[in-house]
Amino acid sequence: MYKALLLYFSGTGITRHFAQLIQEQMEKHGYRCDLLNLEELIDITVLWQKKPVALPYTIRAEVKRPLSKYPWPYLELKKAMKAAAENPVLSHLKSEWEEYDIIGFGSPVYGFRPAPVMISLLLDLPEFQGSKRAFSFATHDGAQGDYENFMSQVLTEKGFRFVGHIDHTFVYSASAVLRESFDHLSSGRLLVRKSAQARKQIDIFIKYLNNMFEGYHGAYRMTSPMSLIFGLPYRLIYSFGIDFMLNHFLFGYGIHKDKCIQCMTCVMQCPQGLIELDEDDYPLRLYHCMYCLRCLNWCPTDALYFSKLTDGKARFPGIEVLLEATKQDELASRLSKKR
Ligand SMILES: Cc1cc2nc3c(=O)[nH]c(=O)nc-3n(C[C@H](O)[C@H](O)[C@H](O)COP(=O)(O)O)c2cc1C
Ligand code: SF4
Ligand code: SF4
Repeated sequence: MYKALLLYFSGTGITRHFAQLIQEQMEKHGYRCDLLNLEELIDITVLWQKKPVALPYTIRAEVKRPLSKYPWPYLELKKAMKAAAENPVLSHLKSEWEEYDIIGFGSPVYGFRPAPVMISLLLDLPEFQGSKRAFSFATHDGAQGDYENFMSQVLTEKGFRFVGHIDHTFVYSASAVLRESFDHLSSGRLLVRKSAQARKQIDIFIKYLNNMFEGYHGAYRMTSPMSLIFGLPYRLIYSFGIDFMLNHFLFGYGIHKDKCIQCMTCVMQCPQGLIELDEDDYPLRLYHCMYCLRCLNWCPTDALYFSKLTDGKARFPGIEVLLEATKQDELASRLSKKR
């Protein structure tokens, strides 16, 4: 029996859902598979504030709208990779992960790359000296860009044997903040459909892993022929689209104090601990962040907004809410058939 570990970061729950699907399929195929949320492994606040590895859009945001309490706290990826050194807090992982035959590292795609906290964590890992197999997994809205390259590069740098990558699009959650409303039921149905597709894709990936363990090193590619033909133009259009969206809709942070009920959800949910309280105990973000949108999405009264254009717009309510909507719908249609 092969033992696998899936270490993931998830901004709003979609990558966690994908990790759970991979775990379920691996277990069906006879693997023992553990899940580990990056936020349980390390205090992300410390990880990020000590050494935030910024993506280009974060750096652009900083230039456009200086916000950070610190003048220029970010490290670009290339510089960060050069400066990478084992974080003593994580040294224990080298022996703890000894028991795993393979480790999967997954995060959402942010700006065509792995979410910055995942990169920060990978750079802090101990060296594995070529002994451990690793793969990457990601969720995105259709344009993962350089994600796989980055993961392969950083993991190889850390001494892992990078063996493959698997990714999937589930719900277009990032664009929810641009819509007037978010249809829970149709998004729930999309999620169920996409999850069934993802399971099939995961099965193919597991077959590939099994072959690899048995010594057959066939080339592994999940890219469909269609995406090879349309990939480049699609990526270009998407990249400008997302770049435009990030620049015009997402940068910033605002709060309607009259709507805020001071529940502290945003303060507690910010994976990077960036939200502090002002003198009247209302949340205030003093640093630029990675724009995971968790604070925005999970505020119960829609008191937060990232730009005037996203103010009052839809919020992504999380995977559980969508699944619940489809369950309720099934129940209602079963009851109406009985009548
Ligand atoms: C700041 C930000 C940047 C994003 N950049 C991309 C991107 O470049 N390409 C893409 O396809 N999706 C992008 N997305 C969408 C997310 O990758 C997608 O919604 C993902 O499934 C979210 O996973 P999570 O719920 O685990 O955070 C972005 C989302 C955010 C919030
Ligand atoms: S401030 Fe909001 S968007 Fe930024 S990292 Fe924190 S939760 Fe995510
Ligand atoms: S989650 Fe919303 S209501 Fe709660 S403290 Fe934050 S801004 Fe206020």
